[in-house]
Amino acid sequence: MQPAPVTKYAPFPQVPLPNRQWPNRTITRPPIWCSVDLRDGNQALAQPMSVEEKVEYFDMLVRIGFKEIEVGFPSASQIEFDFTRRLIEEKRIPDDVAIQILCQCREDLITRSLEAVKGAKNVIFHLYNSTSPKQREYVFNLPKAEIVQIPVRAITQLKRDAAPLVASGTQLRLEYSPESFTSTELEFALEICEAVSDVWGPTPDNKIILNLPATVEYATPNVHADQIEWMCTHLTRRDSTIVSLHTHNDRGTGVAATELALLAGADRVEGTLFGNGERTGNLDIVTVALNLYTHGVHPGLDLSDLNGIRDVYERCTRLEVPPRQPYAGELVFTAFSGSHQDAIKKSLPHQKPGKPWDVIYIPIDPADIGRSYRAIIRINSQSGKGGVAYVLEQDFGFQLPKLMHKEIGKVVNDLADSKGTELTADEIREAFQAEYLSRTAPVSLEHFKTTERDSTVKCEARITVDGKPHALTGSGNGPIDAFVKALASTSLPRFDVLNYSEHSLGAGAEAKAVSYIQVKLERGSAFFGAGIDTNIELASIKAIVSALNRALRPAK
Ligand code: KIV
Ligand code: ZN
Repeated sequence: MQPAPVTKYAPFPQVPLPNRQWPNRTITRPPIWCSVDLRDGNQALAQPMSVEEKVEYFDMLVRIGFKEIEVGFPSASQIEFDFTRRLIEEKRIPDDVAIQILCQCREDLITRSLEAVKGAKNVIFHLYNSTSPKQREYVFNLPKAEIVQIPVRAITQLKRDAAPLVASGTQLRLEYSPESFTSTELEFALEICEAVSDVWGPTPDNKIILNLPATVEYATPNVHADQIEWMCTHLTRRDSTIVSLHTHNDRGTGVAATELALLAGADRVEGTLFGNGERTGNLDIVTVALNLYTHGVHPGLDLSDLNGIRDVYERCTRLEVPPRQPYAGELVFTAFSGSHQDAIKKSLPHQKPGKPWDVIYIPIDPADIGRSYRAIIRINSQSGKGGVAYVLEQDFGFQLPKLMHKEIGKVVNDLADSKGTELTADEIREAFQAEYLSRTAPVSLEHFKTTERDSTVKCEARITVDGKPHALTGSGNGPIDAFVKALASTSLPRFDVLNYSEHSLGAGAEAKAVSYIQVKLERGSAFFGAGIDTNIELASIKAIVSALNRALRPAK
């Protein structure tokens, strides 16, 4: 990097717009969406989609609810031509969906593109040419007046040559893009857009689409919004114009640039699913759409099976959606941090059906997009106690008493630490089993039976301590009390029962009882134990044995 002062790069010029309106607005309705996955996205793939893959992808875009879909550049390649024909001939395009085709302002290409769309009901013919000073000077070496003539000539030809198509019933609309708009002087962008509209002659019933691309993103989103507001307020036929956005993501702010430009008055958004596209990609439509949704504006797109959409996308494009991609990434509903897990666990019970979604750290209900809470919490050595208890409850039904959370949290976190990886829910269940449910040393319970007379419970128990058998009896005001008294006749240390709770595990004939008991050794610390049995009494006796075994295990 160049050391400061940086002279290699210059700040992007501001737009003089003292009366800008967009900062005070909010977005209250969705834009018109246009997917450019099959053109802009596809042309940026190392291995472009086959016709079969494009068909599958197109069908998915229709299912999602796109009403405008750029299907390709049919005059540029035979595959694109064949694909366009196939959609039309196999009648795959619903009546309310317009296919959009991209075409350079060249006579032969316009002729070929018109052949490609023959028989389609709704067509958006998308013409473009580059307009920025650098493109004019370095690439075309033409003055402004001649740059204006490029689309003017093309549109004059299109109007003439498309007449038979229109007469045959095709509804033809024009989209014009001054490519590299955001690097073009605004006055010149306006001039060329006005010239194009003059030739096409749009009306409020048959509007022209003026697409104002950030072909390369050079500025901050506020500057983009200023550029769009400036155009919206200077176009003479605003009521006959659909102002369209087409942002790329070179600075990583394509979504923000689109959102601010919608505030600035744009009507339409072009982009791709998950932001595939040249260099850093096109705008990610999924993110903008779900951002709207989480502000209470239905985007008019059905993203309720986001995993299914992602599967088709990944298969057809051979790209992977990154794990941290908003809404769609593998890890976006997974909390690793203990304090986050705790806050999620505490806020979920406050979420009531029909009430606004308000779960800390999770800005959208994962269920709305076909994702689930199950994967929310995975445990690593940094996770808090609440996370472990949450997994045991959500995935396995154990409602551990609050006082036990810290203890089991430490057990699981130590395990995660020693493994050096995060733990799955099953591994957490196994750790719980090994620590609380499977211990048989030094004490093992072989037999336990109670009888009751005059509200006194008498127990008979057989246990082994360090392998030596003991037959015990005891009585008390309940089975736990009787067993504690019976144990007093052994060499085991004396203890008190501090806490007891139980609940059923599972339902119906298969249901078992689980009990949690905390004991405190006469001279020592408190330990929880847990026991499971179909018999509730036996579950609590097992829990006492579990707690004793934990208290008496050899120190590490
Ligand atoms: O990025 C761009 O400018 C384009 C145009 C063809 C609209 O893709
Ligand atoms: Zn583009």
